[in-house]
Amino acid sequence: MFTKRSSIVLTISCMLVIALLAGCGAGNNTGQGSSNTPASAQTEEPASSSNTEPAQTGGEVNIYTARHYEVDQELYDAFKEQTGITVNVVEGKAPELIERLKREGASSPADLFITVDGGILNTAKTEDILQPIVSDVLDKQVPADLWDKDNQWVGLSTRARVIVYVKDRVDPSQLSTYEDLATDKWKGKVAVRSSTNLYNQSLLASFIEVMGEAEAEAWAAGIAANLAREPEGGDRDQAQAIVSGVGDVAIMNTYYVGRMFASEDAEEVKVAEQVGVFFPNQDTTGTHINISGAGLIKHSKNKDNAIKLLEFLTAPEAQAKISQANFEFPVNAETELPELLKSWGDFKRQDIDFAKYGELNPKAVEIANKVGWK
Ligand SMILES: [Fe+2]
Repeated sequence: MFTKRSSIVLTISCMLVIALLAGCGAGNNTGQGSSNTPASAQTEEPASSSNTEPAQTGGEVNIYTARHYEVDQELYDAFKEQTGITVNVVEGKAPELIERLKREGASSPADLFITVDGGILNTAKTEDILQPIVSDVLDKQVPADLWDKDNQWVGLSTRARVIVYVKDRVDPSQLSTYEDLATDKWKGKVAVRSSTNLYNQSLLASFIEVMGEAEAEAWAAGIAANLAREPEGGDRDQAQAIVSGVGDVAIMNTYYVGRMFASEDAEEVKVAEQVGVFFPNQDTTGTHINISGAGLIKHSKNKDNAIKLLEFLTAPEAQAKISQANFEFPVNAETELPELLKSWGDFKRQDIDFAKYGELNPKAVEIANKVGWK
């Protein structure tokens, strides 16, 4: 018989199922950006996960992450081996994970929120789901400019968004700045993915901060006018396009070039061999970088373990693994770089507060729409 009580239980169960499903959009293992990643991979609940019971203390740490790289899991396994602390992982898209953390509040099992964009890390902070991280070890391992200014998140790795060029048609001496790509010199020659992608939105947000709104808009209009084709695909597809003769230069994250070099797909390796990496704006405002980072959840029940994990992930050994597997730049300066990153050399980066990527995101989207960058 369907009693009023069983109806209430059923309703609550349904709400829980819906809540869990809503937070489970996960990326795949292709390394594509979190904002445009198809929700294809299975996600797991933390062993202690429950929306009604507090997590067990000791022996574990629960992570909600928008990163989806195999090396991350390998490091969590290595951490368990070294410390005995189990790392439970929930993968998802960053905005959904933030919504979930807000909804779960004090009953959330999560200890850490990890994502790949400074703007989103700042959103987690402004949504009041984080707390300051206090650790002398982390202070030593991660320079102050790769932390949130109130220590609510700490950087784990960085990536640069650079100019990639076809070596047989472009000499690096022809390249200089992002602004130069928006001049007539490069008409019909620029390949870049859609402005709906967060990587481009954060790039444009950084220009609004660094150059001012009017110049950033002029830049975006110049890029839209210089496109070799209507934006399509991810970063790697832009390298493929220029190698096949659609455009000469691409705007891409450096780590995709590394991943293509290391690919099991011979075609991708061939593409990587034909392109060069150029760090723009070295004599001016510096190259744009973005940051992967971790925030400590306000209601963390395994705070000591969470901080231990962050110390582990930012120590030189783990940093080298992240860099070797995913070609991201380490945050810890003591890290041994892979040969490819060494070959690219040191570079000057934009001097910017990553929070601006979040604060200026709506303006960046508005500008991209206005100038017709699809
Ligand atoms: Fe990516």
